Amino acid sequence: MQVTVCGGGNAAHTAVGLLASRDDLIVNVYLSYEHEARKWLEGNRVSNGIQVLQPDGYALGKPCQISSNPGEVLPGSKLVLLTVPAFAHEDVLREIAPHLDMGAWVGALPARSCFELCVQDVLKEKLGSITIFGLQTLPWACRIQHYGQQVLLLGTKSQVDLAVEPQEQATALANCLSDLLGLMVNPVASFLSLTLAGTGQLVHPGIMYGLFHGWDGAPYAQAPLFYQGVDAESASVLQSMSNEVQMIRAALEQQFSDLDLSAVRPLDEWLRRSYPQDIEDSSTLQSCLNTNRSYTELRAPMRALDGGLEPDFQARYLSEDVPYSLVGTLGIAELADIPVAVIKQVVQWAQERLGKEYLVDGEMCGRDLVHTRAPQRYGIRSIDPLVLGIQRTLR
Ligand code: NAI
Repeated sequence: MQVTVCGGGNAAHTAVGLLASRDDLIVNVYLSYEHEARKWLEGNRVSNGIQVLQPDGYALGKPCQISSNPGEVLPGSKLVLLTVPAFAHEDVLREIAPHLDMGAWVGALPARSCFELCVQDVLKEKLGSITIFGLQTLPWACRIQHYGQQVLLLGTKSQVDLAVEPQEQATALANCLSDLLGLMVNPVASFLSLTLAGTGQLVHPGIMYGLFHGWDGAPYAQAPLFYQGVDAESASVLQSMSNEVQMIRAALEQQFSDLDLSAVRPLDEWLRRSYPQDIEDSSTLQSCLNTNRSYTELRAPMRALDGGLEPDFQARYLSEDVPYSLVGTLGIAELADIPVAVIKQVVQWAQERLGKEYLVDGEMCGRDLVHTRAPQRYGIRSIDPLVLGIQRTLR
């Protein structure tokens, strides 16, 4: 099978190194930027492939073709993986669209909110001839060591949720991805479920808000601990955000009797399920975050400020997780007419830190809505298309 990995960052290095190390795959790399393609080609000449460093050794995978010309690396690919941040999905989809084969599986790792609406917007009628999918999270924590040559795999999740349209392809795709990624890939009922179940959209903006909403501008001597720094007040914000997502779930399940949102779990339940071995004290949401060994010593994103450090509000915890995740969920709440005061409060605070405008007087009509995954940005004015799924809406 031929696979094309789109992207040139940490996730792309890991995907390419691991997949290309298998004899049964031809792996190509598509890079939107020519300078990145050149660096990959140079790196590959030195190292003869991408080396993925793991605790018990390494995998080495040599991609077949590397190019910033999509026509050279996409045709013939059954599986196309977008391993770029959500703000790049639209650009990359536009670039690759003319070169996708009929029947290709095209998906994002991770999808973030409402990925299906972005694909529908870009691919339009072509959508009918492909299968789209999204993974809820990136399966790996990874960092490039040497560009185009080596990446450090810090951790691999044991399972990850998958949304697929059309649904008939879900089992085949889940089996294929489980095999290729070497972990359990669980199909969930819909992209709507995947969107609402995203926990990064709660945890990252929620903790940033908790840590910094009262910040007085004075430099920090060192970066605050991120998860271990969650106090009772921050935990209560996270709990409220999680409760609001559960309210959306309950209201939609009541309104649509066939709708399965069982994968949309309360945050504390998700943490206990995801980290059964790592959490020392699982009695409360706060203790699940404070005592999770996987989160030990992880610190808030900061940047240098005269005489110390200041919070980095442009880091992905806000710049990706707010517009491309949390604002999507807020848009769904608005369509379903569910009041989500705390999520709104966090989005309002974040947009001021980001210098963006998504909400105006609490309404989703800000000038920067066009750079979000809110359903409203795609002209959606009712919850039905999200519940039905885009492929069925198209038919
Ligand atoms: P990265 O910053 O290492 O790489 C980003 C890649 O996207 C680069 O090749 C860049 O050129 C490309 N890109 C950026 N804007 C673009 C545009 N407009 N058009 C085309 N290409 C563009 O990012 P990384 O670490 O690989 O992350 C990918 C995704 O995985 C992100 O959503 C991130 O939040 C998520 N993630 C990453 C984790 C990690 O350990 N690296 C862990 C969990 C999630």
